[in-house]
Amino acid sequence: MKRLGFLLLLLVSFIKIQGQNEKMNLFINDLMNKMTVEEKIGQLNLTTAGGFVTGSAVNQQTQKKLQAGQIGGMLNGFSVASMRAYQDIAIKESPNHIPILFGMDVIHGYRTIFPIPLAMSCMWDLSLTEKSARIAAQEATANGIAWTYSPMVDIARDPRWGRIAEGAGEDPWLGSQIAAAYVKGYQGNDLSLNNTMMACVKHFALYGAAEAGRDYNTVDMSRLTMYNEYLPPYKAAIEAGAGSAMTSFNIIDGIPATGNHWLLTELLRNQWGFKGFVVTDYTATNEMINHGMGDLQAVSTLALKAGTDMDMVGEGFLTTLKKSLEEGKVTRKDIDLACRRVLEAKYKLGLFDDPYRYMNEERAKTDIMTPEDIKTARAIAERSIVLLKNDKLILPLKKSGTVAVIGPLAGNKGDMLGTWAMGGDQSNVSSIVDGLKKMGGIAVNVLYAKGSEFTDNPQLAKSINAFAGPGQKQLTEPVVSPGQLLKEALKTADKADVIVAVLGEPSAWSGEASSLSDIGLQSVQQNLLKALLKTGKPVVLVLINGRPMTLGWENENVSAILEAWAGGTEAGNAVANVLYGNYNPSGKLTTTFPLNVGQIPIYYNHKNTGRPYDPKNKFTSKYLDIPNDPVYPFGYGMSYSNFDYSDIRLSKTQLQGDEKLTASITLTNSGKFAGEEVVQLYIQDPVASISRPVKELKNFKKVLLQPGEKKEVSIDISTKDLMFYNTDLKYDWEAGDFIIYMGTNSRDVKAARVNWTK
Ligand code: BGC
Repeated sequence: MKRLGFLLLLLVSFIKIQGQNEKMNLFINDLMNKMTVEEKIGQLNLTTAGGFVTGSAVNQQTQKKLQAGQIGGMLNGFSVASMRAYQDIAIKESPNHIPILFGMDVIHGYRTIFPIPLAMSCMWDLSLTEKSARIAAQEATANGIAWTYSPMVDIARDPRWGRIAEGAGEDPWLGSQIAAAYVKGYQGNDLSLNNTMMACVKHFALYGAAEAGRDYNTVDMSRLTMYNEYLPPYKAAIEAGAGSAMTSFNIIDGIPATGNHWLLTELLRNQWGFKGFVVTDYTATNEMINHGMGDLQAVSTLALKAGTDMDMVGEGFLTTLKKSLEEGKVTRKDIDLACRRVLEAKYKLGLFDDPYRYMNEERAKTDIMTPEDIKTARAIAERSIVLLKNDKLILPLKKSGTVAVIGPLAGNKGDMLGTWAMGGDQSNVSSIVDGLKKMGGIAVNVLYAKGSEFTDNPQLAKSINAFAGPGQKQLTEPVVSPGQLLKEALKTADKADVIVAVLGEPSAWSGEASSLSDIGLQSVQQNLLKALLKTGKPVVLVLINGRPMTLGWENENVSAILEAWAGGTEAGNAVANVLYGNYNPSGKLTTTFPLNVGQIPIYYNHKNTGRPYDPKNKFTSKYLDIPNDPVYPFGYGMSYSNFDYSDIRLSKTQLQGDEKLTASITLTNSGKFAGEEVVQLYIQDPVASISRPVKELKNFKKVLLQPGEKKEVSIDISTKDLMFYNTDLKYDWEAGDFIIYMGTNSRDVKAARVNWTK
């Protein structure tokens, strides 16, 4: 009966969607019948909104193009007034009055800025991830934006790559869950509502595998690695309904993604059934000239034929497609198809009903940075923080005595926002000094000293302001000598009971075009840390950064280390709450922290070699000078409490076909604090037709336990969790033994074996 009801519901919604699609098709057919080919090509052109333009101060060229119907979308409009001015021209003066689609990189919040995505992934909390995207959509759509260039779901195993900050880390399974959560948060259930926006999954595809971690660099990988390890998060975003996808800058099998027919048509559309539109990354069409694909006309043809629909900023489509049509290099059908997909997106967003539906000055006043949003931002920032070390139980700090907060990031606001926080405003940010004062109460005396600059490397210092807006530039040359800064810091430290050293990276050292060859603390900062440790006082190292860093020395020498990332608007309050124990840290790393750069790429779900590491045998897979192990493995993160794991209990050890397996452990909070633990479940398929990873994350459960409390944590496993792409790229599972692991991180696990037959 229940099943019948469900089927009926499915049928009704199917019929409804069919009806809506039919209506949309009729509308678009009718519109396209009126459009000239120039106008159709115009819909494929995405241009910039020119920054802070307000009112009628519209650039002449833009104005002319809008009037002629030569612009389909615009990115980075910052005010409702400016976007309204552009929309007015399109609606009132262009031949067919087609509304403009306004997009922006709303990556981790719009005005209320959440932690960078890499940090948020450390929450292992899908509903809070979705909520962050919901709030971002609520705010951005009030201010004119209907389309966001997020989620960024590129798997990254190389922390030299600055864009590791923008994704969810190294794991395909977790990355897939997170990708879907973002899409649901942005798009909701109805794209046409005035507070939902269209997601754009990026960067399709494999962008995170740039050789040597250098941005925009070559990618070269086997189909097996693609299908099993890099493609799943994009697929998950598409399955969650992402309305658009952005091509990546890299080549795949020798052909740039933007011109890659296999990628954009055979895989994305034919195999995965994607129905949305594809936009290039910024000038990615034009960049195919440098990749050796021909002149602008040739690369634009290549892009359109491959399945690209919209051309970001480079105007290759706008300036060459007509000629290519006349010369028979592209067909009317090719142009029509791309144009239709762009118009469909506008239709689904409700722009044809009301082109101004996302431009509501009243809503912009009430729906942005609400107290509720800020509360959520703080909760998310607290949960993104990972406690890496806490020897001698220095943490949590007492709420009395004197705390010296020292370091270039201690009093800093702008860098808390992290990369891609265009809508953020640093005047809303709490610095760590602010937070420690506010959350500590009157019995804590908080002192501050800068202590050092970020770096003494002049080339690197210059990049600090790479993305700084007007009035946000930081000094890149010291006004106070390094010696003087250190002296002041030591004087401040001398008065304190405990020192909080806030070190790491300014936000411009991660994100786009921000690769680093050295991912350790800069020597000026490490020297400051050494001097602080020498005082003999307890030192807590708080790291603000956008990538895993090499922390071998720090892990050896500092008793307490907190990975706080760039935590967004509420960074300072969140860090303070964790330091004081108002929130017991629960974050777990989603990328491996290497010992040094020579280990990269390093990731937990690697394959075994034929000669696995054996300390007694020289001829095994290892380095002569360092161990193979990272400093902190994937999934790692401590709590102020202790969680004890029992052995694994399996509901069965012999299974067949569709049977379900349940794996359970008893988790005990043997510490003094209430806290959350992320119980992780990994599976290994030790014998298969292809060499399989040593373990793969397949599920997790986040559980809250009071001190002394015990809970049984059970996770169901089905054959879906055993599936992988084999050499024929067929997705299936293979009968045999499987090892089930449960534990607190990817290294420290309990194990049990099952046998599963077909
Ligand atoms: C980045 C994209 C971004 C686009 C638009 C590009 O440079 O690679 O991630 O969405 O710019 O701002």
